[in-house]
Amino acid sequence: MEEKIELNFIKTTFKRLVDDDKLLIESAKENLENAYAPYSGFHVSASILLENGIIINGTNQENIAYPSGLCAERVALFCAGSNYPNINIKAMAISAKYLDSDINDIISPCGACRQVMAEYQQKQNANIRVILHSENNEVLISESVENFLPFIFKFDKLRKF
Ligand code: THU
Repeated sequence: MEEKIELNFIKTTFKRLVDDDKLLIESAKENLENAYAPYSGFHVSASILLENGIIINGTNQENIAYPSGLCAERVALFCAGSNYPNINIKAMAISAKYLDSDINDIISPCGACRQVMAEYQQKQNANIRVILHSENNEVLISESVENFLPFIFKFDKLRKF
């Protein structure tokens, strides 16, 4: 028997969102100005809502030695993991903006960030809601990181030491 396996995203607009999602996006948008992106000029901001109601913000931080910089998503996730290791992450909103251009598309996390998002979701054994937002107020929502990294290599497959 065959089974069809599909990815699951909801495409909507900002004004149709629930208040929690709107707040998280607003937080990400406000924090865009804190990106340190002198080399790309591309500002990315990720805001994380923890289960205790705290919001953690992260922005991309670049460096003249390019690979030393880090994406906004991982800055936010590592901050959450370092400061609140035992508090679940409920949701993450991601927003981006070119300083000097009108390209306002939704941006989707890079592969390395997806890997980190997936591990935090697996670690807490509860889904993380991911909200992508464009300056045009288009929104793409996924109830789980699984949609961004299907069939991920799971660490429960590793032998326990
Ligand atoms: N960037 C992020 O912060 N998140 C992503 O998901 C993709 C890319 C940053 C890295 C770099 O500072 C700039 O965007 C251009 O690639």
